[in-house]
Amino acid sequence: MAIREILTVPDARLKQVSKPVEGGVTDEIRALMDDMLETMYDAPGIGLAAIQIGEPLRVIVMDLQENDEKNPRFFVNPEILPLTEDTAPYEEGCLSVPDVFDEVERPTECRVRYLDYDGNEIEEVATGLFAVCIQHEMDHLEGTLFIDHLSRLKRQRAVDKVKKAKRLKDKEKSAA
Ligand code: NI
Repeated sequence: MAIREILTVPDARLKQVSKPVEGGVTDEIRALMDDMLETMYDAPGIGLAAIQIGEPLRVIVMDLQENDEKNPRFFVNPEILPLTEDTAPYEEGCLSVPDVFDEVERPTECRVRYLDYDGNEIEEVATGLFAVCIQHEMDHLEGTLFIDHLSRLKRQRAVDKVKKAKRLKDKEKSAA
């Protein structure tokens, strides 16, 4: 397992549409998911899509860490279907847009179908934080970030903030 670099805006790779995993959940895909999980825990965050570490594949890892317990979840080739027209706002953040948080409105309930770590086909209903997170991560697979749901002004501000923070960090690194 290895901690990988997380891409941040405005990296153009985040805009790619990720490709389905062909040939099922192989050891290679499991190794990718292990890296993703370690990278996500290290960040720390509660969800990560493969494209965030530069791999344009339809793979997501997640751990909502409810009850302070580790409960990693893995989604290969996920598909979602909203189950209600009811939406609710939730203050979202993203490891590719560090230190930016804003409300996004999404359906409160959806059906999720995917292959898990062992390649089993799972279908379940997502509500609450799980519903928010899986929809946020599914967006990544289409090259969409949560800030794309905000106004143009807010989006630009977010990108500028991340760019500025990265410049400072790079400067510190080169000075060290
Ligand atoms: Ni994200």
